[in-house]
Amino acid sequence: MRMAGCRPFMFASVLTWLCASVIPIAAGNGAAGKEPATFTKHVAPILQKKCQTCHRPGSVAPMALLTYDQVKPWAKSIREQVAERKMPPFHAAGPLGHFLDDPRLTDEEIATVKAWVASGSPKGDLADMPPPRTWPSDWELGQPSLILSLPKPYTPRKDLRDDYQNFVLDRVFTEDTWIRGVEIRPGNRKAIHHANVFLIRAELQGGPDGRIEGGFKESQLLLGWVPGIIHWLEPEGRAYRIPKGTKLGMQIHYAPTDDEVTDQTSVGLYFANGLIQKRVSYLWGGARQRIEIPPGEANYRLVEKRTFPEDAVVRYFYGHMHLRGKSWAFRLHYPDGRVETLGEIPKYDFNWQRVYRLAQSVSVPKGTVAEYIATWDNSANNPYNPDPTQLVRNGQKTVDEMMGGYIFYEVAGESLDLWVDSKTGRAVPASANGSLNR
Ligand code: HEC
Repeated sequence: MRMAGCRPFMFASVLTWLCASVIPIAAGNGAAGKEPATFTKHVAPILQKKCQTCHRPGSVAPMALLTYDQVKPWAKSIREQVAERKMPPFHAAGPLGHFLDDPRLTDEEIATVKAWVASGSPKGDLADMPPPRTWPSDWELGQPSLILSLPKPYTPRKDLRDDYQNFVLDRVFTEDTWIRGVEIRPGNRKAIHHANVFLIRAELQGGPDGRIEGGFKESQLLLGWVPGIIHWLEPEGRAYRIPKGTKLGMQIHYAPTDDEVTDQTSVGLYFANGLIQKRVSYLWGGARQRIEIPPGEANYRLVEKRTFPEDAVVRYFYGHMHLRGKSWAFRLHYPDGRVETLGEIPKYDFNWQRVYRLAQSVSVPKGTVAEYIATWDNSANNPYNPDPTQLVRNGQKTVDEMMGGYIFYEVAGESLDLWVDSKTGRAVPASANGSLNR
């Protein structure tokens, strides 16, 4: 195998080689072997599996890629997007298999698409076409325990290229509430590009339509949503805590559209059910220092360090910045001196933020120092940069900057022994419930 564009990547205690592009073994006909690749037999299954969550009517991508007639005009562009790994969007480094819900194409799938386009994008036999993929029309994870929605439908502003809004969802959690999952259901997939749900202070009040100017202060991320993201429920026994005295806030990025549309996005919470032992928490590594990015600076860098207060099992990471964001690296400095990269987002993209879930958890002893390395590009080369002549500082607005690094973990060996009522999400000690002795 030729190592094209390889660089070392440390993951858990294994040193693997990460290759930006691996030369496909079978050139020409690619993965389809001797049989020429056709749309119906070889390409349609790939599109169904990896593309149609977004490329279908009513979803976020500009065109549907369901039928041959829809796909054919895009064949060359598809080859390009796929070969350069621009589509599907995914921005963390690491080989396939390292992340859960990884949408990326395999080298074989890429070779198939390339071979198909190279041979003139033939349709093939209709009998080979797989049955159309279907999507649950309502909630992916099933009926939520609690649904909170924007108080009123919001009409995104058409005079803005991007309309970023912060909404307060008006329900105070008066008790600690334990949840296994969160699902964000966009009210209008055509209008919304991404959404983040935060835990915010109960005192915060939105206007009549829920909007709040200037963002949320002291917010904590609950979930980031981008189109095409796969929602998940924590396994039985693991849960997040929504602390008493909080509300949920939602930050939504509306994308431009020609039509007059409205959106009323909802968040569904799934309460834990029965005995829980592990609480999912995170080590926040955001900026405590001042962010001050000079105009035109292409590689502004900040490093934050935090120490794990207890033995931990790390499962996910997430990095949040605004429009000048460029990259993230999360490193672990173990007490024994070893240094490992937990994760990297080499090309951060504000529009495609997501929580990256590791397929294999990483055990981190107490005293390990997590290093959060963020870089920003305030030059004109950054296509999202609204104004490269500005000195950019910390702030809530998307034209200001932010550094939010999150390493999600649970405490090793933790046994909370709490019993959660699935109707309310509230917990009592399992002994009080009598369930420990069952
Ligand atoms: C997570 C959602 C998502 C997934 C999954 C996805 N796309 Fe896209 N795609 C988009 C969006 C949104 C655009 C519009 C441009 C943008 O916002 O980047 C786009 C644009 C494109 C374009 C047009 C680029 C241009 O010329 O402007 C092509 C071609 C494309 N996608 C192909 C694919 C293929 C092939 C797959 C699967 C292998 C795929 N996409 C998977 C969301 C997605």
